[in-house]
Order: sequence, then structure tokens, then C-alpha cells
Amino acid sequence: MDLGLQGRKAIVVGGARGIGYAVAEVLAREGADVALSARGEDSVKDAVASLSRYGTKIVGKPVNVKKAEDYKTWLEWAIRELDGVDVLIPLSSAGGGIGSEKYWHNAFETDVMGPVRAVDTVIPVMTEQKRGSIVLVATTSALEAMGGPQAYNAMKASLITYGKQLALAHGKDGIRVNVVSPGPVEFEGGNWDMIKGTMEKFYQSQLRQQPIGRLGRPEEVARAIVFLASEAASWCSGSHLVVDGAFTNRTHF
Ligand SMILES: NC(=O)c1ccc[n+]([C@@H]2O[C@H](COP(=O)([O-])OP(=O)(O)OC[C@H]3O[C@@H](n4cnc5c(N)ncnc54)[C@H](OP(=O)(O)O)[C@@H]3O)[C@@H](O)[C@H]2O)c1
Repeated sequence: MDLGLQGRKAIVVGGARGIGYAVAEVLAREGADVALSARGEDSVKDAVASLSRYGTKIVGKPVNVKKAEDYKTWLEWAIRELDGVDVLIPLSSAGGGIGSEKYWHNAFETDVMGPVRAVDTVIPVMTEQKRGSIVLVATTSALEAMGGPQAYNAMKASLITYGKQLALAHGKDGIRVNVVSPGPVEFEGGNWDMIKGTMEKFYQSQLRQQPIGRLGRPEEVARAIVFLASEAASWCSGSHLVVDGAFTNRTHF
């Protein structure tokens, strides 16, 4: 299947590790130019160097999405470097945390305003060219009780509503918007790797609940995200795709 991504221009916010890096890699492999970011200067540099082997234009610069002005400057820089933007995948996340108001502020600024600020910047460009695709990344922790009453789950849930509203508002502009909710995904240096090392019992209990007998891998989620972002998904908009190896214990009518 041709995904129609050859020569397309994609912004991946939070693309230096894990699912975001895997998304950037699938995009590059499919022939797209990619601009990526994260806060870590070295991780951005390494990701750009590694992805350049696919032969498309790969650019990156560190930015903190919580700093609104810097982030807007970064987004405008990325659009200039790519000479446009066809695909936006903003997936920076502050992760979980419980017991302090600071986690709410952090999750709001990173997990909600990260995507919102990027959407606000790219929508006028996509509207002008009458073409664009956005994929927001939520989590199965927004869909079922998981990890206690924490900001991460609630803030991610808001993206599912936001994504649908965007799809309704901008379909007429040629812009599709979809949401992907991954189940637990494990990779070296990621949250589940950390949980495995620090909360072994919790990790094992989650592992036992996985119908496929293991956690997900970044590329397994990335392929679903990139499909929805691509021309091959031209009739998919306003959808919410759960990618979790059947982990969530409910029927998705
Ligand atoms: N892994 C899972 O099990 C899982 C499950 C469901 C949903 N998800 C979602 O999938 C997405 C990717 O998760 P992941 O686990 O693969 O990666 P992750 O460890 O959550 O890292 C996300 C990326 O965002 C960057 N980032 C974090 N805060 C940032 C900020 N303030 N400004 C700019 N960049 C920032 C990180 O780099 P720096 O730290 O260098 O900034 C990193 O590149 C997230 O939205 C996450 O919530 C993950």
C-alpha cells in the first residue's frame, strides 16, 4: 500500500525518543521530510543524525513546549525549514504524577497546550494549502481506570474530545484530525522501563493483564499513527484508534 507520504512535510513534537522517534522514523522511511523536537539538545541531535540515513530532509532543534513564545518560534522555524507542513504529530508529554498540584500544571502545559499551540500554528498553513493531517496522541489510561486520580489521564482524555472538534471544524479546509490511544509501550529509557526497575510488582501485574503477553513496542504504535496521518487514510477523520494489543477491558462499539 502506498501511504502517499513521499515528499510530504511532517512536524513531530517530542520526536527524539520512544513512540515519537519511531513515528519520525516511519515517516522518513516513507519519504517524508521531518522536523522534530524535544527539550534535550543531545537527544535531538542524535535523532536527526540517525534519521538522516533515509535520505529525506530531517531537521531538529530543542524546545520546551511549555514556553509558549519559544515554542511558536520553533514551530515557525520548522515550517520554514520544511517549506510547509502537511502532517503534525504533537506528542510531548509530562507523564504521570500524583499528590501535588504541580502535576496538573505540568500536564496541562505539556500534554494539552503542547498540541494546542502546534495546532493553532499549523492550521492557517494547512488551510491555505487546502491539505493537512493531524494526529493527537492520548492513552488508554484516559479510557479506563489506571494509576489513580492523576492529571495525566484526565488531560489526555481532553485530547480525544479536542481531536473530534478539530476534525469537525476543519474538514472543509481539507484537514483531517485523528486521535490514537496507545496502551503500555516499553522501550529502553522509557516510562515502563523505569517502572520495571522501580515498581516491579506493578509492572508484573500490568504484564499479566496483557492479552498478547507483552507490552507494546514504539514502532507498533508509530505505524498506526503514520497510517492515520497519511493519504492512505483519506476517509479517516474524527476517529479515535486504540492501539493496545486488546489490553483495555471493554468492547469498543
Ligand atoms: N509509553 C507508553 O506506554 C505510552 C502509553 C500511552 C500513551 N503514550 C503517549 O505517547 C507519547 C510518547 O510517549 P513515549 O513514552 O514514547 O515518550 P516519552 O518518554 O513520554 O517522551 C515524549 C517526548 O516528549 C519530549 N518532551 C517531554 N516534555 C517536553 C516538553 N516540555 N517540551 C518538549 N518536548 C518534551 C521528550 O523529550 P525530552 O524529555 O528531551 O523533552 C520525548 O522526546 C506521549 O504523548 C505519551 O503520553 C505513551
